[in-house]
Amino acid sequence: MKIGFFGAGKMAEGILSAIEDKKGVVMAEKVAERAAELKRKYGVAMTADVKEVAKKAKFVFLAVRPQDVDAVAAEVKPLLGEKHTIVSIVAGKTLAKLKKAFGAKVNLVRVMPNLALRANAGMCAICAAAKTPAKDVKLVEKILGGAGATVVLKEKDFDAVTALSGSGPAYFAYMEEAMVEGGVKLGLKPAVARLLAEQTMFGTAKFLRESGMALRPFIEGVCTKGGTTAAGMEKMDVPAFKKIVAATLAAAAKRSKELA
Ligand SMILES: NC(=O)c1ccc[n+]([C@@H]2O[C@H](COP(=O)([O-])OP(=O)(O)OC[C@H]3O[C@@H](n4cnc5c(N)ncnc54)[C@H](OP(=O)(O)O)[C@@H]3O)[C@@H](O)[C@H]2O)c1
Repeated sequence: MKIGFFGAGKMAEGILSAIEDKKGVVMAEKVAERAAELKRKYGVAMTADVKEVAKKAKFVFLAVRPQDVDAVAAEVKPLLGEKHTIVSIVAGKTLAKLKKAFGAKVNLVRVMPNLALRANAGMCAICAAAKTPAKDVKLVEKILGGAGATVVLKEKDFDAVTALSGSGPAYFAYMEEAMVEGGVKLGLKPAVARLLAEQTMFGTAKFLRESGMALRPFIEGVCTKGGTTAAGMEKMDVPAFKKIVAATLAAAAKRSKELA
């Protein structure tokens, strides 16, 4: 099956790298150097014209920035029919907006990815318009599953998803920054503190994911009575901390709703 892309930027490359058979991939990209780079790296067909992609591929990822969606839609809409499926990764573009832009005939899937897609460890939430065939949703799950984890949800959950996993990389990086600064205050070199913080964040997530262990027993297990972690947690485990995290997510979700 031919898989197309409107836009071949950073996120598109993350998805492309997860596609096993790249022979059938065709990408439209405005920036000539970028097109040449991806052609060289992955051997995929490139064009500067989104219409070429709409003609050649029935299953197309929409991976341009939000402000470019209407221009792309205006060009390709006359070429799209009920055999086309558009998979949008564009932040804030609801299924209703996509339907308005690309027409009622096409099948629509909306994905909220996060930046970690570029490191093959993304978190993608997926929802689909009512008439979109289940096999298309399965294909999106299969492709994006090659670049991290996926979950199929109702669109009503997308503001919360945006707040948690969409914006989440910045929050975890902020936590890492705080850990690095704390480590430096204790005398570590910044690069060493960063390695310690980052590998600990990565390893903790990996362990929790692989073990499936509940969070409370895990935390309590590390906090041996009278030990170092317990002494540290005494400072962190105060109501204000979780209140700040909850308020952070609520503000991001509110903004997501406003932008949609
Ligand atoms: N980055 C993230 O963490 C993240 C997370 C969630 C969702 N997303 C969504 O992912 C989408 C892509 O983000 P990105 O970071 O990959 O953006 P990006 O790197 O800027 O890639 C978009 C590419 O599409 C090209 N383009 C725009 N209009 C085109 C057209 N008509 N024909 C051909 N190519 C065209 C752009 O060229 P020009 O530069 O010349 O315009 C650019 O090279 C965005 O909608 C964003 O909301 C991103």
